[in-house]
Amino acid sequence: MKYGRKRVLVTGGAGFLGSHLCDRLVAEGNDVLCVDNFYTGTKDNIAHLMGNPYFELIRHDVTFPLYLEVDEIFNLACPASPVHYQRDPVQTTKTSVHGAINMLGLAKRVKAKIFQASTSEVYGDPEVHPQTEDYRGSVNPIGPRACYDEGKRCAETLFFDYWRQHALQIRVARIFNTYGPRMHPDDGRVVSNFIVQALEGRDITLYGDGSQTRSFCFVDDLIEGFLRLMAAPDELTGPVNLGNPHEITVRQLAETVIAMIGSKSTLVTRPLPADDPLQRQPNIDQARAKLGWEPSVPLEQGLERTIAYFRARLS
Ligand SMILES: NC(=O)c1ccc[n+]([C@@H]2O[C@H](COP(=O)([O-])OP(=O)(O)OC[C@H]3O[C@@H](n4cnc5c(N)ncnc54)[C@H](O)[C@@H]3O)[C@@H](O)[C@H]2O)c1
Repeated sequence: MKYGRKRVLVTGGAGFLGSHLCDRLVAEGNDVLCVDNFYTGTKDNIAHLMGNPYFELIRHDVTFPLYLEVDEIFNLACPASPVHYQRDPVQTTKTSVHGAINMLGLAKRVKAKIFQASTSEVYGDPEVHPQTEDYRGSVNPIGPRACYDEGKRCAETLFFDYWRQHALQIRVARIFNTYGPRMHPDDGRVVSNFIVQALEGRDITLYGDGSQTRSFCFVDDLIEGFLRLMAAPDELTGPVNLGNPHEITVRQLAETVIAMIGSKSTLVTRPLPADDPLQRQPNIDQARAKLGWEPSVPLEQGLERTIAYFRARLS
């Protein structure tokens, strides 16, 4: 799908998803401004773009206002894994809430269209399975994950209030587990954890008995979904679930990774962390019907590319 030449701001652009989004936007002829404070992102993720005249990097914390001229904003800035977002939970909430206020303020000033990277975590530990967009969620507001979950919920509230009150053009995507090259090797997310442990021949840690399920979307599929949602008609504000509905148990994932790497690692179990959801699967009917989008990269193919990335990094 072709995307026109525009000035596009990507907050969190040096992170895992943000850097892939910058790649795609630059490749399609846009003028891209990447804003990041390098809390979890790195220059390595975008080093290959630095010499390109249509790519600019700005070191900035989105909890402070930003004045730029842009046509579109993708707001991705926020640590995404529990290890990172729980390290400084107050800053995590500030990043989601103040960051959203600042980016929405910018969008309002310059009449830019704005996209929010929301999350399946707004559904909390769901009583409904799979989750459709009208499910309101089951979130513990005072638990250790609340800084992220409630921060993202409040950001959605702000997006829809700016839309109602100021007629802003908004797009809200609820992203489910995504994996691929440039994930952090040590952020405790299950795909990167298993791959790194298997490559190093260490024990593979399963939380609980490994029967909890997850659905994993390869990063290229997700970025295609972002671009389709941004380009969709203005009535399509979202929230729209973006993720891969193919569900597997965490134990199956570990066994697949061990087999693909040919590792000697063995599985060990640890207690399940507080508020860890037992099931997580997107219902993507809306994205299918309204964006003509669905994931196309099979798990083993995506894992192959992710394993190759970590193999190169670790060596
Ligand atoms: N990866 C997933 O599976 C997933 C799932 C659901 C939602 N999301 C959302 O997508 C977005 C990107 O996630 P990711 O996986 O790429 O995570 P990431 O940690 O790799 O990227 C986040 C980026 O935001 C930057 N950042 C953090 N706080 C900032 C601040 N205050 N000011 C400026 N920059 C800041 C970080 O340095 C990093 O580069 C996040 O908003 C996350 O909540 C991701």
